[in-house]
Amino acid sequence: MPKKTIPSTRDKKPLKSAKKKALKIQKAKTANARETTEVLLSAQKIYKPSREILKNANVKDYEKTLKTAAKNPEKFWEEAAKDITWFKTWDKVLDKSNKPFYKWFIGAKTNLAYNALDRHIEAGIGGRTAILWEDETGRTRKYTYLELFKEVNKFVNALKNLGVKKGNRVAIYLPNIPETAISMLACAKIGAMHSVVYAGYSAMALADRIRDASAKILITADGSFRRGKIVDLKSIADKAVKECKSVKRVVVVKNNNQKVEFDKKRDVWYHDLIKNQRTEAKTAKMDSEDPAFVLYTSGTTAKPKGIIHAVGGYMVGVLRTIKWVFDLHGKEVFWCTADPGWITGHSYIIYGPLLAGITTLMYEGVPDMPKPDRIWRIIEKYKVNILYTAPTLIRAMAKYGNEWPAKHKMKSLRILGSVGEPLNPEAWRWYYEFVGKNRCPIMDTWWQTETGMHMITPLPSAPLKAGSVTKPFPGIIADIVDKDGKKVKAGKGGYLVILNQWPSMARTIFNNPDRYVKTYWQEMPGFYASGDIAFKDKDGFFWIQGRGDDVLKIAGHRIGTAEVESAFIRHKAVVEAGVIGVPDPVKGEVIKAFLILRRGFTGSDELKKELLLTVRRALGPVAVIGDIAFVDQLPKTRSGKIMRRVLKARELGLPEGDTSALVS
Ligand code: PRX
Repeated sequence: MPKKTIPSTRDKKPLKSAKKKALKIQKAKTANARETTEVLLSAQKIYKPSREILKNANVKDYEKTLKTAAKNPEKFWEEAAKDITWFKTWDKVLDKSNKPFYKWFIGAKTNLAYNALDRHIEAGIGGRTAILWEDETGRTRKYTYLELFKEVNKFVNALKNLGVKKGNRVAIYLPNIPETAISMLACAKIGAMHSVVYAGYSAMALADRIRDASAKILITADGSFRRGKIVDLKSIADKAVKECKSVKRVVVVKNNNQKVEFDKKRDVWYHDLIKNQRTEAKTAKMDSEDPAFVLYTSGTTAKPKGIIHAVGGYMVGVLRTIKWVFDLHGKEVFWCTADPGWITGHSYIIYGPLLAGITTLMYEGVPDMPKPDRIWRIIEKYKVNILYTAPTLIRAMAKYGNEWPAKHKMKSLRILGSVGEPLNPEAWRWYYEFVGKNRCPIMDTWWQTETGMHMITPLPSAPLKAGSVTKPFPGIIADIVDKDGKKVKAGKGGYLVILNQWPSMARTIFNNPDRYVKTYWQEMPGFYASGDIAFKDKDGFFWIQGRGDDVLKIAGHRIGTAEVESAFIRHKAVVEAGVIGVPDPVKGEVIKAFLILRRGFTGSDELKKELLLTVRRALGPVAVIGDIAFVDQLPKTRSGKIMRRVLKARELGLPEGDTSALVS
């Protein structure tokens, strides 16, 4: 059998596409080579913290803090837990008796919403701004801590009237608006688990997640604004709910006065629901180990994983990291450009800033509307102190040109952050020079939905290297190992693992503890397997190279190859699909699909369009398909598993590695 993926004779323009492919491979190879040299050069230059930054830093002696925490991480996290208000403190810090189901702060009682709101009111800072909001069209809103506290309480009482109780699941399918924060906090106050689903997901993806969690309530909106258009969220939600028996009521936020279908028995307007509610509400006394929320993320199968975080530990991890990584002192305006539907939004738009009592900025819309300086305009307008964003956005902004950030006064900026995918040295330097004006340190934070909080990241007082996530956060022990779990030498690539436990670690996968054990703890017993590949340089700095499994990172969004493949197979023309990620200068990666067509179908441009629509319908706009190729064969193992690694190597013209398992 020939080993190559044979371009199909059904492909209309074989010669042209072969040329194009060769050109692309050449480009990718050059990009790769450049990247490697860049990384090597960056590994040498060290950016030291300025005197100004050191003067303000919460952690002044970085090395000493790392060393002390490493000696006794449990003690470090116990100290950190003192920043939280507990109704009852713990009998034991960490329970390892049922590995890998670790437990933190055993016997302690607390509440997430209480820590994010009530305690600030009690401390007399209720007048401080909690949320600043702006949307693409220029509408604005503002909530003080006291106002937010009252809104949350009203919604707590309303949800209780709808029958929501501790432990129930509530699905939230909302854009980046204050009601998202209010809904999440209201669930937390009751002790119900929210399951926020990114509002860019399709009806099918939303339905899958609602069904898995058996949510009894869905909170959505009439619509949301995106790139000048209204996204009709309610009709997407309606389609999803049709497939979900568990949903009894749908709460609808009026966000843009859209006309929507309304099922009078099932649907209720948010504003009607909260109208006459009391502004005081009872706080559930949660056990530290009670589940706080479920958040679905993509894995290596088509079924997303419902990651569960626990109340006490999640709070401790998120508060300590936001305070130290972004050097918070209580009065900052913090802008995290993620969406609340991802873990970054949970931890660093909503919970982290509110736990820390600072001001969080929410922006509903795209960063380049009406002009490419929208993001810089917002920073100037609200005097943002900390900007926490993603490499894909940084690269897109760099492409628009240096003149756009230069138009705005951004003196308020003190610290910059990045998350979601590798920030290449070139983009790092652009961010440092043109946004931070060479005075704002960049916190490139490596972490995951499963870790709940930053894991490998600098602190403002730490030395930096462009393109490196530097070193583990104090109290975290990470390393690079080979496939047998043996530590590898400096400079050698391998699997990124975490050797100890941390408070905000995922507790399990909803309704699937076996999958939790198998995915993260079985292959290398004793370690948490992150699924990423990385290397450590001679100074102990970590360099993330990407996912080592079948998970893609498209513009920082996590998506499983299996999910995309099963979306393609929904179309009657497709018998088999193999999907890989290929490098993209802005999005990091885009999807390339190799499809085998059923007899009688021809690989036309028309069919490509239809297939793109099928995937979009199944998954939503998160799945950016860069290219589709129609092929006659896919490289497979004897057991019939598609070898995506081989597909990728062939596409990029790289060595195929061990192909002994390959049969076709
Ligand atoms: O591959 C890593 C990449 O994002 C993955 C986690 O994705 P998700 O659970 O969606 O959470 C994203 C936000 C925390 C990781 O396995 N990743 C995250 N941060 C970085 C990163 N890759 C490189 N550098 C980062 N700073």
